[in-house]
Amino acid sequence: MTTRPAALVFDAYGTLFDVHSVGAEAETIWPGRGAQLSQLWRAKQLEYTWLRSLMGRYEDFAQVTASALGYACAALALPLGEPERARLLDAYLRLATFPEVAAALGRLRGVRLAILSNGSPAMLAPVVRNAGLAGLITDVLSVDEARVFKPDPRVYRIAVDRLGVPAEAIGFVSSNGWDAIGARAFGFRTYWVNRSGAPVDRLGFEPDHVLRSLADLPALVG
Ligand code: 2OP
Repeated sequence: MTTRPAALVFDAYGTLFDVHSVGAEAETIWPGRGAQLSQLWRAKQLEYTWLRSLMGRYEDFAQVTASALGYACAALALPLGEPERARLLDAYLRLATFPEVAAALGRLRGVRLAILSNGSPAMLAPVVRNAGLAGLITDVLSVDEARVFKPDPRVYRIAVDRLGVPAEAIGFVSSNGWDAIGARAFGFRTYWVNRSGAPVDRLGFEPDHVLRSLADLPALVG
């Protein structure tokens, strides 16, 4: 029988918050192109985090997000002026929360709940507040203190150090398959929220649990 994790640590973007909700804002600016922009923007944002980590050139996730937006608009020939840029980056601070999140987290009372994200503290604070999750999540942890992005093990170490809980007693929840695997390689028990039914990344580790949505988490945690 497996014991209940002492703490559950959640990824933020893509797991609790729907990064593609910015597509609706983009759609009002460039009708018919919102979803395409949102997909490329997110892909480039993640790529830039991995590249910057390899380059040893960390910068705040807000800046990475802005740079990725600039690239995506240039690649798709969408004219990005200062008003459009400001609107889209502001939308990132008001991302939609996936519909099952509040109820699922509410059923996890008794377990310490935290976020560990690439997002900088200034980016995470408004989105957590807007989602009404501030009372449920006690610790909002950012890669910013390690100045390197996921899946560098130094990032997952932040949760161990800041929560004072050993890796094997932490359950890590992410919809980003590569993040769940990075956390598994570090030593966390991992819960991959695979909303799209994607195959497991071939990176030498597999998540301990695969969920179709966060609604499945309380029953699995026990
Ligand atoms: C996060 O760290 C990976 O974007 C994801 O919130």
